[in-house]
Amino acid sequence: MGAGGQSRGMRSWWLALSFSVMLSCVDPSSAQIKYSIPEEVKVGSVVGNIAKDLGLDVNTLEERKFRIVSGSKEAQFEVSQNNGVLYVHRNIDREQVCENVSPCLINLKLVAENPMEIHYIGVEIIDINDNSPSFQEEEKILEISESVLPGRRFQLPNAHDPDVSLNTVRVYKLNQNDFFSLQIRESGEVKVPLLVLQKALDREKDNEHKLTLTALDGGNPPKSGTLNVTVTVLDSNDNHPVFSQDIYSVSISENVKNNTSVITVNATDLDEGVNGETEYVFGNELNADLYNIFSLNKVSGEIRTKGNIDFERTDIYKLEVHANDKGHPPMGADCTIIIKVLDENDNEPEIEVTSLSKLVSEDSKPGTVVSLISVKDQDSGLNGKVICSLSNNVPFDLKPSFQDNMYSLVLKQRLDRESVSHYDITITASDCGQPPLSTSRTLSIDVSDVNDNAPEFLHNPIELYLIENNVPGNPICSVSALDKDLAENAALSYHLVREESRQMKTTAFLNINSENGQITALKSFDFENLKTFQFQVVATDSGALSLSNNVTVNVFILDQNDNTMGAGGQSGGLRSWWLALSFSVMLSLVDPSLAQIKYSIPEEVKVGSVVGNIAKDLGLDISSLLERQFRIVAGAEDVPFTVNPNNGVLFVQETIDREKTCESVSPCLINLKLVAENPMEIHYVGVEVIDVNDHSPSFQEEEKTLEIYESTPPGKRFQLPTARDPDVAVNTRKHVFLN
Ligand SMILES: *[C@@H]1O[C@H](CO)[C@@H](O)[C@H](O)[C@H]1NC(C)=O
Ligand SMILES: *[C@@H]1O[C@H](CO)[C@@H](O)[C@H](O)[C@H]1NC(C)=O
Ligand SMILES: *[C@@H]1O[C@H](CO)[C@@H](O)[C@H](O)[C@H]1NC(C)=O
Ligand SMILES: *[C@@H]1O[C@H](CO)[C@@H](O)[C@H](O)[C@H]1NC(C)=O
Repeated sequence: MGAGGQSRGMRSWWLALSFSVMLSCVDPSSAQIKYSIPEEVKVGSVVGNIAKDLGLDVNTLEERKFRIVSGSKEAQFEVSQNNGVLYVHRNIDREQVCENVSPCLINLKLVAENPMEIHYIGVEIIDINDNSPSFQEEEKILEISESVLPGRRFQLPNAHDPDVSLNTVRVYKLNQNDFFSLQIRESGEVKVPLLVLQKALDREKDNEHKLTLTALDGGNPPKSGTLNVTVTVLDSNDNHPVFSQDIYSVSISENVKNNTSVITVNATDLDEGVNGETEYVFGNELNADLYNIFSLNKVSGEIRTKGNIDFERTDIYKLEVHANDKGHPPMGADCTIIIKVLDENDNEPEIEVTSLSKLVSEDSKPGTVVSLISVKDQDSGLNGKVICSLSNNVPFDLKPSFQDNMYSLVLKQRLDRESVSHYDITITASDCGQPPLSTSRTLSIDVSDVNDNAPEFLHNPIELYLIENNVPGNPICSVSALDKDLAENAALSYHLVREESRQMKTTAFLNINSENGQITALKSFDFENLKTFQFQVVATDSGALSLSNNVTVNVFILDQNDNTMGAGGQSGGLRSWWLALSFSVMLSLVDPSLAQIKYSIPEEVKVGSVVGNIAKDLGLDISSLLERQFRIVAGAEDVPFTVNPNNGVLFVQETIDREKTCESVSPCLINLKLVAENPMEIHYVGVEVIDVNDHSPSFQEEEKTLEIYESTPPGKRFQLPTARDPDVAVNTRKHVFLN
């Protein structure tokens, strides 16, 4: 204020003064004398000798009151009345006195009296360079977008220098820099500095440029003033996001939990604000399935699992992820993510039977390939590596084939269908994972039959007890053999061996049913003529190379009381019994409620004698007897019989003594209970043991003395001791004879 106020006062003063100068003297240039002094000259400095220059008498100046008559009290000059010299009376600042007016002229009016004289003097104040250029602002801040093209100009503030002409601002200079240069626009007297962009700005490299603008005047030496110019570079979306990697690779285990973190991608965008904010999205080209397997957090770039990761379905995933910034328009980048799936041992090996011979002949040679097996495992590495093994105790071997994971099942040794007719072979495939997984598969192999067994008769020879006077044409017995083979190899036919040279061609009187082995007598035998004979039966199977075997049948004819005279009397009763019972099957003889079949045998029959074929007589399926465990139950240990489960034949196992078994009970019946299982069947069979006259009657005492009086009349009876005989019926009937 003070300085401004002063200069305003000064100006009005100057105006008033020049106005007065103008009034008194129309043209100040018409001043009689013109001096010049530099501003700021020392007080007391001599401007000039006015009196001398005006031709005035120096000695009279005092008398004539020679003086300066300016309106201002603060006179800049003083004139000496002693010598007429003009001195500088106070400091003169050109800028105060004239401001911008140039040349700066101070007109002085001097007066001398007696006579009155008026003189006009001009003093020019010469400018000296006593001011530096200066800027009004302390600092200039310019905001320039980085997208601005080179060549663009930006006005800068101009500097001021109160000095004039050469001493005022003449030149601007800019510090050395890469981006800007300076241009000056002349605007009348004023020089306006312009900043010119030389090179595109890059906020991401330099977000600020510090410049120094220097203004210089033309003084010698020149004075200067500086302005700090700060250019702030404004962001434009000129950077796209950049992923930290072009390709990310990561591994995850299959079967990881849902929502497991896989990887976080990271793109950075050098721009500022929204121009630098990135958002992640899956690439458009992504297979739709992948959206169900992976999720992407659009803000964090984290990829997590969302669906099942199954190595066996996909072992590698390739995802594309885009990162976009939010500028207008946005800029984007993309990256590839390769996700390798690590295998877990989550698949059991698989066994595939490529070929299988379900039926293997029992005469197959060792080494025969029975089956081809391929093994695979969907897992990889050790989890796929499979080792195969076979169940123990089978006559087969597993041999690796020329092809990977192929095995052949080969026969290790010869088979025997009659021992084992079926094999269940378990093949186990185990992988080498941790823990290992395994699969088993069972192959069923049947052994097919070869005719390697000949028919066999259970007993050889067979004893046949035949009562004489049999009815011709009736069966007398049947023979049956067994063949361990199957089907036609076991289908037997029977025939009699017709011997050629025998005194009695007994076989001529016999006939055999070739299918069931039933033997029929064509004639009636007579004990008195023939007591025993022998014949042979051959059983032949129907195999391609048939096998056969024979059995000898020893026939014993039993006597019947068919002759009126002789010793046969005793056995007459037996004979009728025997006849009634016959040797073959008798139905429901004693206890019809129990026994379905009744057989008869004489006591003391040989061990091994055939009682009858129970199975055949009951109509059971002979081939299943063994499997159905056909057997005698209920006191089986006491029973002197055994049934052969192979053919259903009941035969004698121990000697039977009727007198021991039944004592005097007659008839002597042994009841058998037989069972077969699946389905459970119970059968009752009775065997009557026929008494054989194997005991003679005997007296207890060795001697009996009878005392009879001579006077005893004839006809008197005396009791004699009774004889005993453990046999029954006729065999115990006693006839007492006297010699
Ligand atoms: C101008 O910048 C210079 C150097 O950077 C500094 O020393 C000076 O103080 C600044 N002047 C003003 C007025 O800020
Ligand atoms: C997945 O896990 C993350 C981190 O634990 C959790 O923030 C997010 O909610 C989960 N997502 C789901 C769908 O459970
Ligand atoms: C992304 O990468 C940048 C630069 O490497 C780093 O500064 C920033 O922390 C990263 N962000 C994440 C989330 O890892
Ligand atoms: C995993 O979790 C997400 C979110 O809860 C759900 O949508 C998805 O069905 C889940 N996936 C499986 C395989 O459970």
